[in-house]
Amino acid sequence: MNHLIAPSLLSADFRNLEKDIEMVNASEADWFHLDVMDGMFVPNISFGFPVIENIAQIARKPLDVHLMIVDPDRYIERFKKAGATIISVHHEACDHLHRTIHAIQDLGCKAGVVLNPHTPVHLLQDIIHDVDLVLIMSVNPGFGGQKFIEHSIFKIEKLKSLISVTNSPALIEVDGGVDLENAHRLLKAGVNVLVAGNTIFSSDDPAGTIRKLKYI
Ligand code: DX5
Ligand code: ZN
Repeated sequence: MNHLIAPSLLSADFRNLEKDIEMVNASEADWFHLDVMDGMFVPNISFGFPVIENIAQIARKPLDVHLMIVDPDRYIERFKKAGATIISVHHEACDHLHRTIHAIQDLGCKAGVVLNPHTPVHLLQDIIHDVDLVLIMSVNPGFGGQKFIEHSIFKIEKLKSLISVTNSPALIEVDGGVDLENAHRLLKAGVNVLVAGNTIFSSDDPAGTIRKLKYI
């Protein structure tokens, strides 16, 4: 498959979110990546239901919701109602990951599992068949604009091989410090979905940068 681009609205202009949403709508991006942070799982707080509901009203592409929150089971139904298409939860935040993944799918959403930089890929061995997506964090979650962790490439290669040997349908998404230089190497390692915040929204021509990432 051709790879997908998911701009992270965390780096968008919150004084004029509609303008950036319309830019993404009109661009060659595939999904909107929405980062939800609770100030507990990560040392930052971003946005929640009212903001997502309003984004959903004007976004014309799937909403890829990345939950950086403790005990995400409590809120899955509300994220679905707010407009989420894909809901991803952190491996580190779920005591009963299998149950959480199936609860997301039972609501009609695609379900993803996210690995922090320190969490090994082999922990997915017994859940890889159940998930629609694996998101590899290539920075420590909590903030946009951080430096890409090179070891993530090695993890993606490992994940790609786990997916191949187990015949899993899971997509590989990468999030954090993605830029025009490392994107090529990430795709070569097996990535299907590139998330990018700072690289897109801090560039002079965000739609042009999306196009560059798409046709790399
Ligand atoms: C970080 C978030 C990312 C973030 C990526 O915790 O999960 O989605 O917005 O931003 P960049 O691309 O700027 O590293
Ligand atoms: Zn994210």
